[in-house]
Amino acid sequence: MALSQSDKIKQLVVTQQTGYSLAQAFYKDSDVYQAEIKKIFLKHWLYAGHVSQIPNIGDYFTFEFDTESVIVVRTDAGEVKAHMNVCRHRGSRICLEQSGSQKSLTCPYHAWSYNLDGELISARNMPDDFLRSESGLHKVNVALLGGFIFICLSEDPPSLAALRQDLKQTFDLFGMHSMQLAEQKSYLIPANWKLAVENYQECYHCAPSHQEFAQIHAMAKSPKVFQKAKEHFSQTNQGNPKFIELNRYFDLAEAGQEGYQYDRNPLLRNALSGSLGGNPVAPLLGSLQSYDGGASELMIGPLSYFLIYDDHMLSYRFLPVSVNECICDVSWFVNESAVKGEDYQLDQLTWLWDVTTQADKTIIMNNQKGVDSRFYQPGRLSDMESFQQSFLNWYLQIVIN
Ligand code: FES
Ligand SMILES: [Fe+2]
Repeated sequence: MALSQSDKIKQLVVTQQTGYSLAQAFYKDSDVYQAEIKKIFLKHWLYAGHVSQIPNIGDYFTFEFDTESVIVVRTDAGEVKAHMNVCRHRGSRICLEQSGSQKSLTCPYHAWSYNLDGELISARNMPDDFLRSESGLHKVNVALLGGFIFICLSEDPPSLAALRQDLKQTFDLFGMHSMQLAEQKSYLIPANWKLAVENYQECYHCAPSHQEFAQIHAMAKSPKVFQKAKEHFSQTNQGNPKFIELNRYFDLAEAGQEGYQYDRNPLLRNALSGSLGGNPVAPLLGSLQSYDGGASELMIGPLSYFLIYDDHMLSYRFLPVSVNECICDVSWFVNESAVKGEDYQLDQLTWLWDVTTQADKTIIMNNQKGVDSRFYQPGRLSDMESFQQSFLNWYLQIVIN
């Protein structure tokens, strides 16, 4: 008799060895994929965008993964709200563009119209007993964290209380509320989303695969050399609020709280920023007065990552399109007062992480090709893949329950 979906996943999880990459089925099986969507993507806070993307009433953008689409909009009252992009008549997508500005949200199919709060305001030729008040758009939870818009599709989202308290100083220090989006790029990767996330979580591949990154970041060095550089860097900057260390990621998060992580790492030699030659590429962020030769790693929730240099910040997110395809979205942020072409050049700002993400796309795609082979077996992880191991431990706990 065929195993049920949950028995199949249980068996996969209990036979998975700690310290090894995942078994093939985790990257290919559609039941595993459906369980991940339900237990991870529909349950946790996901990074949708930044308030600077929708400054005016009616401005909106859509946020999509798997079969889902969410409209994130600035309402008449100036609030940020989110609604499912699913018409309450017969289900059509309402907003078809990725971003825009609208006075109301009108379905292109039969023209039902919703206000920016998601309430149905007009529907033609409906029966007398039809109640418009019962046909508003499905609401989606929204949280603003340092100007970043997070959404959660669960009716009972994880708490953000600890995260808000611990990260407030960091949000303020780098002026995250008032940054502006300078550029965003989407990289479609023909691979399971976990291969993309795992790749981002380890720097074992940095030296062989990212020549450009490895010339700037100490993280690409061996663990011993990196730890020594990091200790020295932290000691010389003791008491500086940029150098707090917060480890509440994955299993280290308290029950019911969303996970997060923050730390600051040294760059190499005299590098000041993540750019060609380590040269500054934009005005300093927030209230910063000088460069310290470091970069901060920030994780909010299990799937949203930020890298903060002193003069610009990047966000990364990895979203599944289907079991064997995902998207890596990278955004570049600069100080709110920076003027494109005068204070920064887009090609200089985006060079390092465009070239690095292009290389990652190729690595991840080739990884999936090998994982698809009949000869693939889970392989032993290195000492430089411990963060990835934390993610895998957390992931296995989530999909089994
Ligand atoms: S499906 Fe939207 S108005 Fe008919
Ligand atoms: Fe990489």
